[in-house]
Amino acid sequence: MAGASTSDRRTGQLLGWYDRHRRDLPWRAKPGEAADPYRVWLSEIMLQQTTVKAVIPYFLRFVERWPTVRDLAAAERDAVMAAWAGLGYYARARRLHDCARHVAHALGGRFPDTVEGLRALPGVGAYTSAAIAAIAFGRPAAAVDGNVARAMARLHAIAEPLPRAGKAIRAMTGALVPADRPGDFAQALMDLGATVCTPRRPVCGLCPWRDACAGRKAGTAEDLPRRAPRKERPRRHGLVFWLERPDGRVMLRTRPADGLLGGMLEAPSTPWRETPWELDDALAHAPANGAWALLAGAVRHGFTHFSIDLKVAAGACGETGPEGDWRHPDRFAELALPTLTRKVARHALTARRPAPRPDGTTGGDGA
Ligand code: ADE
Repeated sequence: MAGASTSDRRTGQLLGWYDRHRRDLPWRAKPGEAADPYRVWLSEIMLQQTTVKAVIPYFLRFVERWPTVRDLAAAERDAVMAAWAGLGYYARARRLHDCARHVAHALGGRFPDTVEGLRALPGVGAYTSAAIAAIAFGRPAAAVDGNVARAMARLHAIAEPLPRAGKAIRAMTGALVPADRPGDFAQALMDLGATVCTPRRPVCGLCPWRDACAGRKAGTAEDLPRRAPRKERPRRHGLVFWLERPDGRVMLRTRPADGLLGGMLEAPSTPWRETPWELDDALAHAPANGAWALLAGAVRHGFTHFSIDLKVAAGACGETGPEGDWRHPDRFAELALPTLTRKVARHALTARRPAPRPDGTTGGDGA
């Protein structure tokens, strides 16, 4: 069948290119080596919404400290969260740990070896289950993420915008997956999307599909894939209270276990709402009575579904201070602080304090 041989040619071209140009990544088995499902799973969870460059040092630290899924399962939750801090999307870290415990305790330390079995694990969705099944277990599954979708949309000059085009792209990718090297095929497509078929300025001259690419022939490759216009993210507002003791420690608290940044440390704040806070109306949420000085500027942070603007008010208190989780900023590096809390800390520690009043205070002697 002519169609089948075209697919075989495309697959052969890509695998030939991969054999020459594959990236050397710490979770990747060398040619001829068997893949370690734990390392494959760990890397795929870390790579969800985070770049290869950012993931590498985290991956290396994790496997050094927890070389097997049983080691990770036996780790303290706080230690896992602290090791994850900075990678973002903290629900992923909690699910990662839940998954490790499930595999270690309910599955005897062995990962399921099918797409369906993997898909049932905490934190493992359609893309990740296909990627692990292909890479770790040689299952002929098509793992389609943004990089892969871009390469396929260009190869076939798909004009329909994402996400609507996703179904057709998955089918086209599936048609190219070879029975004998599905894991290499998945990783070859990832490498192609990351190094050649890049979002801007693709290096078409180096592409194994340069002669086959319909997008290149039509001169539209760089404009593909099209995307349905994105809705603007709503903005929310909060006001954070940065309360310092004379010994330099700052009051933190733990967020509720469920929900956004669940179980992570933050400085106390107002609830987040649609309208900005003024200091006066925020004071009802302050962790202590007394004087608070609003710092110049604000902290802005983007989450998946909204962005947040946080004003920061600084206060000082006596040696004992109100009850709380008092931590010194010099030791923040050891804590499981999410990026948002780190941004708040940086702002609070560097922002200009309001000028003292004529009586020598910033509005009182502290909270
Ligand atoms: N992106 C997602 N998974 C990946 C992998 N296994 N290798 C490189 N990039 C990836």
